[in-house]
Amino acid sequence: MNINEIRTQFPVLDQQVYGKPLVYLDNAATTQKPICVIERERNYYLHENCNIHRGVHYLSQKATEAYEHARQTVADFIHAKEAREIVFTRGTTESLNLLATAFEHFTSISTSPDCFVPHNDEKRLKILITSMEHHSNLVPWQQMVQRHDGQLLVVPMDEKGVLDLNRYEELLKERPMVVSIAHISNVLGTINPVKQMVKMAHEYDIPVVIDGAQSIAHHPIDVQDLDCDFFVFSGHKMYAPMGIGGLYGKAEWLEKLPPYQFGGEMVDTVSFEKTTFNVLPYKFEAGTPNVGAALGLETAIQFLQSLDRKEVEQHEAQLLQTTIQQLSEIEGIRFIGEAPQRSGLVSFIIEGIHPYDLGTIIDKMGVAVRTGHHCAEPVMTRFGIPGTVRASFALYNTLEEVEIFVKAVKKAAMMLR
Ligand SMILES: Cc1ncc(COP(=O)(O)O)c(C=O)c1O
Repeated sequence: MNINEIRTQFPVLDQQVYGKPLVYLDNAATTQKPICVIERERNYYLHENCNIHRGVHYLSQKATEAYEHARQTVADFIHAKEAREIVFTRGTTESLNLLATAFEHFTSISTSPDCFVPHNDEKRLKILITSMEHHSNLVPWQQMVQRHDGQLLVVPMDEKGVLDLNRYEELLKERPMVVSIAHISNVLGTINPVKQMVKMAHEYDIPVVIDGAQSIAHHPIDVQDLDCDFFVFSGHKMYAPMGIGGLYGKAEWLEKLPPYQFGGEMVDTVSFEKTTFNVLPYKFEAGTPNVGAALGLETAIQFLQSLDRKEVEQHEAQLLQTTIQQLSEIEGIRFIGEAPQRSGLVSFIIEGIHPYDLGTIIDKMGVAVRTGHHCAEPVMTRFGIPGTVRASFALYNTLEEVEIFVKAVKKAAMMLR
């Protein structure tokens, strides 16, 4: 893997910040975009722009074909059985809101005998998440259960940021309607044993949603192998444009769930008395979608596929290990998240120093990291801290950048003590 060559494809990285070369380590928030992705979207607006699925004319048909081709590319990339199992959304947050809303309506409208809610003895609506979820995989479910006097069940974790699977098993016995879990924690970097957790939930006939926001850019995903019922992700965290992402759902589930939003395109027939809905996946894609960004997402996938993904994994693992090793030398450092299975990022605090102060000072040295609660306040509460400094990696980061980052942290720590 020629990192220098790869970096030429990301012009944004080649700039000075406060007179220092930019070291961009905020990739868990969003990755930078290669020229091919930017060009793909630009080209769509320059030469192909048209609304899709509606026109008989040339441009509309071309745009429709391109959009559906992008859907097939996403399906192949995550090994979905069929393209109709991929719903384009704005990203992870929208995908999770879609699911929480659809499951909520499914509860209230379903008259089918296989409606499994609520099967627990108390007849209460319960949703099972973990203690390391991003707010996007917490608040939609929390609001949903609260509307029904239900309950959010939460799998605890230990000091290292490893989930307690014994407790998970016990909570499954409470018969939640859905299990929704992060593949990789955006604060701790923990890689959760999602395949095993799916298997355990299926023994109780409970469907599982995997939040893949932090995994899809770093590791190959095979939804059939994981056997998850849903997998959600954001394009902008995997080198694609903002405003596009996806929801994979097993066709049998997507068929069963009611639509999320209503309007054009998601309908089959409409009268004042009655509306029937379109087939999958259009039933879940109301209104005009972000076609240009979907095409950019396809190009981002092709970009990732053009690389040896094993090599990318090894490179990112080396960046992570070197960072941890070098940061460990700093007096008073406390890592937040030390699970044996980790990926993509490192979170830490330094005794007596507020993460925000540290982040602000190293920014002046050209280093971009994230500080704060990272949209996961319960994780901060669990560890009794106000926030962390988080450095997160992408395939274009280098060992030299790690060195600059660690030096900057050491210098800032000296200044702030
Ligand atoms: C684990 C996880 N889930 C969900 C999200 C929300 O993603 P988005 O803001 O792209 O919808 C993020 C974003 O940081 C995340 O890290």
